[in-house]
Amino acid sequence: MTQVRPRITKAVIPAAGLGTRFLPATKATPKEMLPVVDKPAIQYVVEEAVAAGLSDVLMVTGRNKRPLEDHFDRNYELEEALTRKGDSSRLARVRESSDLATMHYVRQGDPKGLGHAVLCAEPHVADQPFAVLLGDDLIDPRDPLLTRMIDTSERFGGSVVALMEVPPEQIHLYGCAAVEKTGDESDIVRVTDLVEKPSAAEAPSAYAVIGRYVLDPAVFDVLKQTPPGRSGEIQLTDALRELARDETPGGPVHGVLFDGRRYDTGDRGDYLRAIVRLACEREDLGPDFRAWLRRFVSEDMQA
Ligand code: UTP
Repeated sequence: MTQVRPRITKAVIPAAGLGTRFLPATKATPKEMLPVVDKPAIQYVVEEAVAAGLSDVLMVTGRNKRPLEDHFDRNYELEEALTRKGDSSRLARVRESSDLATMHYVRQGDPKGLGHAVLCAEPHVADQPFAVLLGDDLIDPRDPLLTRMIDTSERFGGSVVALMEVPPEQIHLYGCAAVEKTGDESDIVRVTDLVEKPSAAEAPSAYAVIGRYVLDPAVFDVLKQTPPGRSGEIQLTDALRELARDETPGGPVHGVLFDGRRYDTGDRGDYLRAIVRLACEREDLGPDFRAWLRRFVSEDMQA
């Protein structure tokens, strides 16, 4: 009898990292709260989960967690002030984040790595497949990567990672996948092995693992057995590598090849690019901002 795979309804968002690349901004504020135009980066991520049908969201938080929780909670004082002023459009914007999803929180304590952060989700997720969205990875809302990954997991079972081609000089910043073709669909591959942050010479391909996953709950048992890897942290990549082996429960691992727009908002350069790109495309701010940017690039930059 074929087993019916339960529908994926839960999203886990690890947001407990230290954000050291963005110090001192992240000394007292989580990097996920840094604004991208006028919304914190994390709100785009929760919106993406909801757009893919996942309205039960567990956020894994750590130190400085308060702003994250407050952002997705009601702010009655502010709402009352805006109501009194009759400012209904800002009132709607304030309520957007608290009405988005059913939010849950778990605290990681020590940031012992992404694998450890995912393990903190076990009591909430239990025995259902679930999605993981890294809180500092922003995928453009017009590129529905997560939906494609959920479809892929429903079709093949096991676990699914998102892969993006990167230049050789950048592969050492990512987990890297060895892949083979699956046949029919050109954007879906089978992952046969994974290496965390390899040098360009050691990398088995140009495919970097980016911050979206659909995981089988068998990953929890594997994570419990996974010893700390690079920099003493429990790496999710090491557990995925185990799942990718033949016959391991929780596998196989498939990869969805993504060539859309993605920004690592924990990286200062990418963060700036995300803001400029999204601001240029906004209906309200875009026209003025683009005109200013054109002038800035052609005049000021040459001065
Ligand atoms: P990163 O390595 O990008 O996060 O982890 P970091 O450690 O905060 O970054 P830097 O290098 O110090 O600037 C990827 C994701 O995993 C989460 C982070 O919050 C980020 O979303 N993470 C990482 C955890 O939740 N817990 C951890 O122990 C480590």
